[in-house]
Amino acid sequence: MARKVTKAIFPVAGLGTRFLPATKSVPKEIMTLVDRPLVQYAIDEARAAGITEFIFVTSRGKSALEDYFDCNQILEQTLEEKGKDDLLETLKATNMESGAIAYIRQHKALGLGHAVWCARRLIGDEPFAVMLPDDVIAADKPCLQQMIEAYEETGGNMVATMEVPPEKTSSYGVLDVGENIGQVVRARGMVEKPSPETAPSNLAVIGRYVLRPSVLYNLNQNKQGSGGEIQLTDAIAEDIRNGVPVFGYKFDGQRFDCGSKSGFLQATVAFALARDDLRDDLRQYLHDAVVTGQAAQ
Ligand code: UTP
Repeated sequence: MARKVTKAIFPVAGLGTRFLPATKSVPKEIMTLVDRPLVQYAIDEARAAGITEFIFVTSRGKSALEDYFDCNQILEQTLEEKGKDDLLETLKATNMESGAIAYIRQHKALGLGHAVWCARRLIGDEPFAVMLPDDVIAADKPCLQQMIEAYEETGGNMVATMEVPPEKTSSYGVLDVGENIGQVVRARGMVEKPSPETAPSNLAVIGRYVLRPSVLYNLNQNKQGSGGEIQLTDAIAEDIRNGVPVFGYKFDGQRFDCGSKSGFLQATVAFALARDDLRDDLRQYLHDAVVTGQAAQ
């Protein structure tokens, strides 16, 4: 039986340039969908999947992220004194247990593969998850939990995958599909950011992975790939060449690319519409805005 996955790496050391000027001082992962920062959605998903050790790969300017997970005693005390129990509960749910969270620094933004490699000593010789908080996935069963359940059957490496329009392949790692076994596909290869003409399929890899420690050994070579960056995709593809299987998991759920402005806005609307306290007002607003917009054309 595959070894239990209890550690997750959250690479959050990127520059977040698509959200400038906001990301000049606010880490992208702290930006909020309604009232919760992106990183909280990722942590909740990880916890639901049985993760107990949370490793953040951070960089200069990300201290707001570290502060976010601290217990804010003054705030808790104030809410308690005022009898605001619901808010107090919400706040307490964001606290992390002592020792459960570790921060490690990526000194230069050399790529996602390099960021993951920075956490190698904290992972050791165990399978581990990688979660990119800017991919937010709305699902009945959290995406990482779906993947870990599938991984417990298959072993090997498992990456979350979804179909994208052929013209979008150059924004993703893309699978060369060997065998198709229902929700799971076995990959023959993986390519980072292929052009639509050379893409082996339109099955893109998105920001959830369950990986073998062998991927970390592959990253030891620090080889530059697409865009001059050290790519996680290349290190996973190397496992395939070494005979370690790699599976794509076609998850159930809706993925929002919150690293892009349009994806972030769509997620904001979707998550607000899912809330009982916001739905009616927002629906009314959207209806009026769309109808008025159409009338003006
Ligand atoms: P992105 O490609 O979205 O880059 O990184 P970015 O810097 O976050 O954002 P833009 O493109 O400049 O707007 C994908 C994930 O990989 C992490 C990012 O933090 C993000 O979670 N990453 C990327 C690192 O941790 N280190 C790197 O060197 C590169």
